[in-house]
Amino acid sequence: MTPKTFKIKSFGCQMNVYDGERMAELLGQHGMSAAADGDDADLVVLNTCHIREKAADKAYSDVGRLRREDGWKPLIALAGCVAQAEGGEAKRRSALIDIVVGPQAYHRLPEMVAQASRGARPVDTEMPAISKFDALPARLRAAPSAFLTVQEGCDKFCTYCVVPYTRGAEISRPWDDIVAEARALVGAGAREIVLLGQNVNAWADGQRGLADLIRALARIDGLRRIRYTTSHPADMNDALIAAHGEVHKLMPYLHLPVQSGSNRILKAMNRSHTTDTYLAILDKMRAARPDIAVSGDFIVGFPGETEEDFEATLQIVDTVCYSSAYSFKYSPRPGTPAATMEDQIPREIMDDRLQRLQARINAHQLAFNRSKMGEQVEVLIERKGKLPGQMIGRSPWLQSVHVETAAEPGDIVNATLIAAGPNSMTGAERQQVAA
Ligand code: 5AD
Ligand code: SF4
Repeated sequence: MTPKTFKIKSFGCQMNVYDGERMAELLGQHGMSAAADGDDADLVVLNTCHIREKAADKAYSDVGRLRREDGWKPLIALAGCVAQAEGGEAKRRSALIDIVVGPQAYHRLPEMVAQASRGARPVDTEMPAISKFDALPARLRAAPSAFLTVQEGCDKFCTYCVVPYTRGAEISRPWDDIVAEARALVGAGAREIVLLGQNVNAWADGQRGLADLIRALARIDGLRRIRYTTSHPADMNDALIAAHGEVHKLMPYLHLPVQSGSNRILKAMNRSHTTDTYLAILDKMRAARPDIAVSGDFIVGFPGETEEDFEATLQIVDTVCYSSAYSFKYSPRPGTPAATMEDQIPREIMDDRLQRLQARINAHQLAFNRSKMGEQVEVLIERKGKLPGQMIGRSPWLQSVHVETAAEPGDIVNATLIAAGPNSMTGAERQQVAA
């Protein structure tokens, strides 16, 4: 039987969230609709992430839980990076999986669903040269803050990372396609666009780079804010830094992962930057845009990391004063060079370092939030809060802001930041600005 309803569960990065939205639009175009909350769906897509921890094991146990006690199960599609890494092996490991579809092949999902409804178990983990984007339907609905993938894949080959294998080589989408999708998103209600890519600042179309693209998108009427994530220090160029000083729609926020504060470890990670070159980029960025909020990613317990290396990481956190940051325990990814390096770090040491690092990051996050007390900011309202009349939005620095207001999602309100917590701010509305 052809499924009528679907549910898509996305894990991991924002690119997976974007892919999940596109799959939903595609299935919608083929006559299916999203199952209501709490209802069983005829088709469940698990859009998986492979970057850390027992990703594959988790995906298989999620698959197992989709079978009901009475034995009924939906059609199950394994998508995302675990699907890419496991390929046809996924069908052998779990008889419950009907479809295996990689991140570059999901434009074929409706066709694969039709095949699976007839009893086949299709697998597609190709990385075709022709972009899946050409085969996807136009954007008809958008959240106030909408993701737009502009670049995929990675050629950097950091020694711990699986992305170059699951998402393939760096590819930039063409300029015209991106501008058209941005216009469609704004027409569909987006007020902010977040440009996505594993190495988004490596985006290029001929001579044009991300800074040119941002300047062009800033001319779209109705678009109020632009962000981009994630950037690699090696691709951070002067044009992009200058854009931060000149394009007022480009928000004062930069996610620039450093991973470690030890040059010895950065070299073993094949990161191609040192702490000095990294800090020099931030100096230039702060000269162009003094109030920029800087965020980052860290890995603790990379093979061979000593206490001294780890202390260098704590040191760089203090030097940069991050407004927020993500930190992870090193997780060996099969097939990556670091997985077979000597001197893997015991779990207890990793746990201890992660705790100390997170305490340090949290202290800086709170200090950053407190430093914004009293500021008058625009808050882009995204959703309802828990309390009556309360809405939640984002400040220019990506802080979550709670405001009492009659404004709706997609509106921008003028607020004074009157209280700072570790994870959010409270804003008092001053007057509403027409969106
Ligand atoms: N182990 C732990 N963290 C990892 N990351 C990527 N690969 C690994 C790994 N094998 C982290 C990096 C990256 C973020 C997306 O995930 O910090 O920037
Ligand atoms: Fe992974 Fe490094 Fe590429 Fe980022 S830059 S996706 S961490 S290989």
